[in-house]
Amino acid sequence: MPDRIAALRAEIEKHNRLYYQNDAPILSDADYDALVRELRALEGGEDSLSIGAPALETFDKIPHDTPMMSLDNAMNADEVDAFFARACRFLDLPEDTPLSCWLEPKIDGLSLNLIYEQGHLVSAATRGDGRVGEVVTANAKTLSDIPQTLKDAPQRLEIRGEVYISIADFETLNAQQQAAKRTPFANPRNAAAGSLRQLDPAVTASRPLRFFAYHAAPLPQITHQHQMVDWLQRQGFTTPPHSRLCPDLACLRDTFAHIQALRPDLPFDIDGVVYKIDDLRLQKRLGFVARAPRWALAHKFPAEQAISVIEDIVIQVGRTGALTPVAQLRPTNVGGVMVRRATLHNEDEIARKDIRIGDHVLIQRAGDVIPQVVAVVLSQRRADAAPFAFPHHCPVCGAQAIRHGNDIQRRCIARATCPAQQFEVIRHAVSRRALNLDGIGTKQLEMFFDEGLIANIADLFDLQDKAPALLTGREGWKTKAIQNFITTLINGRQTTLPRFLFALGIPHLGETAAETLAGHFGTVEAFLSCLNTLRQGGADPALETLDGIGPKLVASLKDYAQHDTPWALVQRLSQQLTIAPVTPTVSLPYSGKTIVFTGTLNTMSREEAKERAKALGFRVSSDVSRTTDVVVLGENAGSKRQKAEALGLTIWDEERFLGA
Ligand code: IVH
Repeated sequence: MPDRIAALRAEIEKHNRLYYQNDAPILSDADYDALVRELRALEGGEDSLSIGAPALETFDKIPHDTPMMSLDNAMNADEVDAFFARACRFLDLPEDTPLSCWLEPKIDGLSLNLIYEQGHLVSAATRGDGRVGEVVTANAKTLSDIPQTLKDAPQRLEIRGEVYISIADFETLNAQQQAAKRTPFANPRNAAAGSLRQLDPAVTASRPLRFFAYHAAPLPQITHQHQMVDWLQRQGFTTPPHSRLCPDLACLRDTFAHIQALRPDLPFDIDGVVYKIDDLRLQKRLGFVARAPRWALAHKFPAEQAISVIEDIVIQVGRTGALTPVAQLRPTNVGGVMVRRATLHNEDEIARKDIRIGDHVLIQRAGDVIPQVVAVVLSQRRADAAPFAFPHHCPVCGAQAIRHGNDIQRRCIARATCPAQQFEVIRHAVSRRALNLDGIGTKQLEMFFDEGLIANIADLFDLQDKAPALLTGREGWKTKAIQNFITTLINGRQTTLPRFLFALGIPHLGETAAETLAGHFGTVEAFLSCLNTLRQGGADPALETLDGIGPKLVASLKDYAQHDTPWALVQRLSQQLTIAPVTPTVSLPYSGKTIVFTGTLNTMSREEAKERAKALGFRVSSDVSRTTDVVVLGENAGSKRQKAEALGLTIWDEERFLGA
């Protein structure tokens, strides 16, 4: 009987994988259910299955106290230098000022956020989308590296760190997986992620998970990163070994090389080194850009390279019609990962490197970036290899593909009528940073799209009511899956204005622009009314004065508003969703006011000044106009000063601004 149990388990796991991870079930629901029933019967009714691969397990969600950031990457020494030069410029220091840094290995695991209240561990959450994570408290409590209580912690404290599995433990775990006829994990990182994200904490407890802590806040008495690490150690946390405080770049370089040399012998995987400016006051001044801090940098180890063969070049059509060539490679192991595809970026890149089908090529992968083709091995080129003829038509809809002005991308001109673009816009809207419909996979979307059930994101929300009738009895749609699908749509209806704007997939409207526009409009109604003005051929002069909103985006918004299909879609979608407005933070002293800087400031860079102004609630603009509320004059202010005086605007000097 144990044999049958093991066989059944393996069989069920295989179908779970096909169903949940690959979205490609090969068994009818009835047959699947029969397997599960047989196993339960043999095991005396006890449910020992860890059903479901990660994608569809549902965890409660919790917003982080402060967003969980990613890190900017440097791939070489020049990029490291550029990072420090930039930080100095921001701080208005000479570019080669040495900034003391705390250096840590970058652990290749998954980040975890712990909350302690009155010294007791009350919650643990994964990173999720950075703002909202998944609650895995019971699982985290099974890790012996995570103290349940802290000796001297403030009222409420956030601890961050990395969950990982050591290489030795990973090998043992995989041997066990194989003995039990389960699929082995691809690498320690996947094993750690899969083990932490288990619905049953007992499964997590049985896995050799460990934790390195690297951040704690707020700790009022702590002024430097290295002290934070000391504090973490005193509380019983393990912190990343081989870390050190470096007074200057030379020390960082040496330590980077030292850790790189240690890497093959370390008992855990690392993929680089993290530099953190040690002084927390400087960290605070430097703040964040988009999703990464200005005060920390991940210096990645050099790329791993290998030789492969280009078997074919296929053309993908993206959301904005860009034709992207992708090399299909002879599967090749590059530093432990099988690489099958590499991006070739665009037609100029293919021409520049003269990449031809059949060529032997040097490929590389670095960190989590898409593998790239570095160069062709010309000595191995076949005599009959022809230069690659880049298509001038969309491979999906057949429309013309052209290059406008100095655009490096050739784009399909069909826009809304090209199925590839339609589909990519939907996929974009569903994605994590947009509407975050994380239970709906590409395979499912493809099915709906191919069957003509959806042509846009609004159609997808309409499937909510139709789902039971439409999907019941279909291959791959068990009752649970249908329920999950409906729940995802219901939850997805609650969104925020920046996410909504980003989800529209308007060319040039990225996440940062979405934040800016959302801050400017406040509500979806105000945004729609602006679109309406643009649709009527009018203009919204305030738009272009917004920091980071350029003429390209404004033109793109106009284009969007003036086409009937997107216009109808945005109306429909805004009705379907509940879009939380951006509450102008009432507590900010200058909310809704516009500020313009001109001339040179003495105590800080323009960039820092802008950040400070934003923190005070100001909208930063580059043009002086009647609607400007404050103009800050630095030294040698020119025409803007005259204009401000002529308009009788409020004028501040730097000191007045600092006191605001
Ligand atoms: S600090 C705001 N330190 O790398 C700075 N991150 O690419 C937050 N990571 O999400 C990160 N080792 O999961 C930091 N010593 C280390 C790290 C580390 C690994 C991960 C972490 C983060 C990701 C960013």
